[in-house]
Amino acid sequence: MPVTIIMGGQWGDEGKGKLTDALAATAHVVVRANGGSNAGHTVQTPAGVFKFRLVPSGILNPGCLCVIGAGAVVDVSMLVAEMDALEARGIDTAGLRLSDRAHLVLPYHPRLDRMEEAARVGDEIGTTLSGNGPAYADKASRRGIRAGDLLDAATLDRLVRREVAAKNRLFAITDDPAPIDPDALLATLRPIAERLAAVIVPAEVVVQDAIDAGRHVMIECAQGPLLDVDYGTYPFGTSSSPTAAGACQGAGIAPTQVDRVIAVFKAYSTRVGAGPMPTELHDATGDLIRERGREYGTGTGRPRRTGWFDAVAARHVVRLNGVTEIALTLVDVLDAFPVIPVCVAYRLDGREIHHPPANVEALDRVVPSYDERPGWSAPTDGARHIDDLPDPTRDYITFIQDRLRAPIRLIGVGPDREQLIPVPAATPGLVTA
Ligand code: GDP
Ligand code: IMO
Ligand code: MG
Repeated sequence: MPVTIIMGGQWGDEGKGKLTDALAATAHVVVRANGGSNAGHTVQTPAGVFKFRLVPSGILNPGCLCVIGAGAVVDVSMLVAEMDALEARGIDTAGLRLSDRAHLVLPYHPRLDRMEEAARVGDEIGTTLSGNGPAYADKASRRGIRAGDLLDAATLDRLVRREVAAKNRLFAITDDPAPIDPDALLATLRPIAERLAAVIVPAEVVVQDAIDAGRHVMIECAQGPLLDVDYGTYPFGTSSSPTAAGACQGAGIAPTQVDRVIAVFKAYSTRVGAGPMPTELHDATGDLIRERGREYGTGTGRPRRTGWFDAVAARHVVRLNGVTEIALTLVDVLDAFPVIPVCVAYRLDGREIHHPPANVEALDRVVPSYDERPGWSAPTDGARHIDDLPDPTRDYITFIQDRLRAPIRLIGVGPDREQLIPVPAATPGLVTA
């Protein structure tokens, strides 16, 4: 039985939540592999809109086991609040599991996030201030506290006191010296530990047992590969690996067990926070994309930066992640544009290049070369079949597919569950790879 990775293709917010929810209808297990509450995954159903931060987007499918893997970092207070909010809406969370190896985001992490951003004066990353980066930093420094530690009161006590003392020494020399009270923190963690006792499990074993039993397992990534700590626009990115390799590591699944890697791309580009974005539009066209796509952060409400599709960055992502299929979302947002440019090359200091350079100053300097595609100036949100789409829409999709050299197998034409068009493998022109 297959293991399927669902990852972003760009800078996040490509519609991974919607895709995961839709494909989870045939999955037994959905594993969230990376990130924390910096993510916001939207699923729009007849029962209303759900915005998942930590809970995997498969939870709306009854019977689907939803696992938060070792690669995620988890603010357990937020997790419990998210579970309660779902239960209050009649969603059963009994199928939720949390890896005992997942690291905790504790109250000192968002505080450190704020401090580190303030200290960058003029060079801010524009993080979500959720404590994500400092929690991964503690993990890499081998001072992190993990979900499994919640299950042993003496261990939790010792680790929390050690870490709070260390962080308080740091806070003492800042403008915000108020110490964190370890007793108060432990008092909030103990009832949460009791509540999550049955939820915290050796997740990699649960996942491997499911694969052994022939179950269909899906891995849901957060963020996008252009924010990857190794291959993204470092340092303007996140602190985990929203890649196919990161998905395997975070979920406890071997690369050789994966047979589908679905990358979700928007039909244009968006980015939240700072950092280079070669195709960014600073004009009324960019504003129109933002308004039509409702491009405001799911968790933070921040307006997203907008621009045309960047096929250079996208092709790089397809190669590095062994993408086997593409879902192209938010195609309906482009219904209003008579001409739709696609970036097909970068010019850097007079030379043509076909990959994003590692150096962010260089990436900031690149000048995109565009291929102007004809728009369709007609609504696509009512389309349910590939043949319902206007010819120029199909041409645009085929053009992107040819550039990326991976088949586009799903097309999003609206936020609702049913606004997702499957592309049959035999569609003329549309499947070349
Ligand atoms: P994620 O983080 O990748 O799960 O994406 P977000 O939920 O942060 O952002 C995607 C946004 O686009 C959400 O508001 C979705 O409801 C919406 N969305 C997803 N697919 C489509 C689509 O095909 N068309 C339109 N118009 N909206 C979509
Ligand atoms: P989903 O899963 C879009 C961005 C932040 C910032 C950078 C670092 O919904 O696609 P962090 O808080 O991770 O240290 O912030 O990464 N970022 C996202 N942008 N979608 C996300 O998640 C993001 N998660 C983090 O805006 O630029
Ligand atoms: Mg999002």
